[in-house]
Amino acid sequence: MGSVTPIGNQPPPSFQTWNSKTYDKNTPFVSKFGEDVLELLAPKEGERILDLGCGNGVLTQKISEVGASVIGVDASQSFVETARIKGVDAVRMDGNALQFNQEFDAVFSNAALHWMLEPEQVLDGVAKSLKPGGRFVGEFGAFGNVAAISSAMNAVGSMMGGDASLAFPWFFPTTDQYAKMLDKAGFKVNLIRSFYRPTPLPTEIRGWLETMRAPFFEQFGSEIETAYSRVIEALRPSLCDENGNWIADYVRLRFSAELQA
Ligand code: BEZ
Repeated sequence: MGSVTPIGNQPPPSFQTWNSKTYDKNTPFVSKFGEDVLELLAPKEGERILDLGCGNGVLTQKISEVGASVIGVDASQSFVETARIKGVDAVRMDGNALQFNQEFDAVFSNAALHWMLEPEQVLDGVAKSLKPGGRFVGEFGAFGNVAAISSAMNAVGSMMGGDASLAFPWFFPTTDQYAKMLDKAGFKVNLIRSFYRPTPLPTEIRGWLETMRAPFFEQFGSEIETAYSRVIEALRPSLCDENGNWIADYVRLRFSAELQA
């Protein structure tokens, strides 16, 4: 492995703070849906694989079960620690600045690339991490992902005089846009598609908002509950069904590419 990005007392802005326990409770579907992407990766015994944005390490562990040698990287220390408890080899590293050199047969990523806001740098880092001919397989949010949720936050943010930009800290490209970026970084794209995936939320929309966008709501201080209830009521007609089940408006982008030798 190359040198690991040093971790000081003050993480750089691209590092993230997550609570892996509430993440597991509020979004258990993340690793479940990721199993389809694992099938697309088709890891083999003896391969060396990087899990980019490994989160709690559930899928990293599954990759290792086939006999591959896998390392997970994540920007969140809480996730890295949770993954290590599972016996996963994990390190904290900024996905926008990967530190590897031609060591992997494949790079895998599930539900993480949309948090990395320097996508060209991410792709350059992935290309540099792979051996020639190596695979890059993943899934993340596509253009239109959580559109209702982010529009509601944006509207409430403006109405309440807050920083509405905190409503949308993600990279959700179209398939054309991402295919061009993969191509520019030296990849041959074998598959790329986007699809709608309505996603039931086990702890309703409140759990999702608290897990994914706490900084947006925290900016309102003593008005935080007003902000939550305005966003929730704005979303109820479109995301809460007749039985009271909340369903997030997820759109996924799935791809498989290989580094041209
Ligand atoms: C997603 O997996 O699509 C996602 C997760 C968190 C925030 C936004 C989108």
